[in-house]
Amino acid sequence: MSGLLAGKRLLVTGVITDASIAFSVAKLAQENGAQVVLTGFGRLSLVERIAKRLPEPAPVIELDVTNAEHLAGLADKVREHVDGLDGVVHSIGFAPQSCLGGGFLDAPWEDVATALQVSTYSYKSLAMAALPLMSAGGAVVGLTFDATKAWPVYDWMGVAKAGLESASRYLALHLGKQGIRSNLVAAGPLRTIAAKSIPGFDQFEDAWTERAPLGWSLTDQEPAARACLALLSDWFPATTGEIVHVDGGYHAIGA
Ligand SMILES: NC(=O)c1ccc[n+]([C@@H]2O[C@H](COP(=O)([O-])OP(=O)(O)OC[C@H]3O[C@@H](n4cnc5c(N)ncnc54)[C@H](O)[C@@H]3O)[C@@H](O)[C@H]2O)c1
Repeated sequence: MSGLLAGKRLLVTGVITDASIAFSVAKLAQENGAQVVLTGFGRLSLVERIAKRLPEPAPVIELDVTNAEHLAGLADKVREHVDGLDGVVHSIGFAPQSCLGGGFLDAPWEDVATALQVSTYSYKSLAMAALPLMSAGGAVVGLTFDATKAWPVYDWMGVAKAGLESASRYLALHLGKQGIRSNLVAAGPLRTIAAKSIPGFDQFEDAWTERAPLGWSLTDQEPAARACLALLSDWFPATTGEIVHVDGGYHAIGA
């Protein structure tokens, strides 16, 4: 098999529909020579159905990143399909409704804690769960939404993403000696299930549509997926703790 990821074995989390960023990553990765194992959360039969739409049907392992048993058993379950991993994709985010849509001042700690556990801490948890399979080094790649600014309606999810961006740098620090790189893609707004759960998400859509220097498609996951592939490939061998913006250039302008 030829392609950017020829011979690479990847674990891809976060597929729930074919609009998921993770679905585009898995599809493009297979088209570029990678062997893909998926994880699914909750609605496993749905994820399995979506997995069949990939160029090669991919196995699906159940993983709730807040479940210690799932995390502890992950490496053995992945080993049933591949003998090691060269890359792991974290494409997971969740915040209870109280944490979004302007609820910043009122969201209770229990809800904020859930947002942080699923969206931030899980980046480290997933990497550690996969580590036994990465003895030859490899790449961990996650998805963020530029957390250097306070956005209207993003609220505690924005705080969770700021934490994720920091966690990625710490993972880079702590796993660098083992040849493991950690990088994030900061995507612009895309119409996925996670996005639709944010009340007022249309404000992002309007802002990007009007102002992104390169223009922006709300329904094209491929640019973000391509950046994930690049970071998983051998073409960023000396890059870690980095955030690549795939947002039509929005982050660079002062509008
Ligand atoms: N859609 C956007 O506009 C956008 C922009 C920038 C970054 N992102 C990020 O991209 C990533 C993927 O989101 P998406 O937009 O593709 O939406 P999505 O809804 O398709 O994917 C989110 C995934 O998180 C999974 N998930 C939630 N709780 C989980 C848990 N406890 N354990 C394991 N998995 C769990 C869901 O099952 C789902 O597959 C998220 O980190 C999101 O914050 C999205």
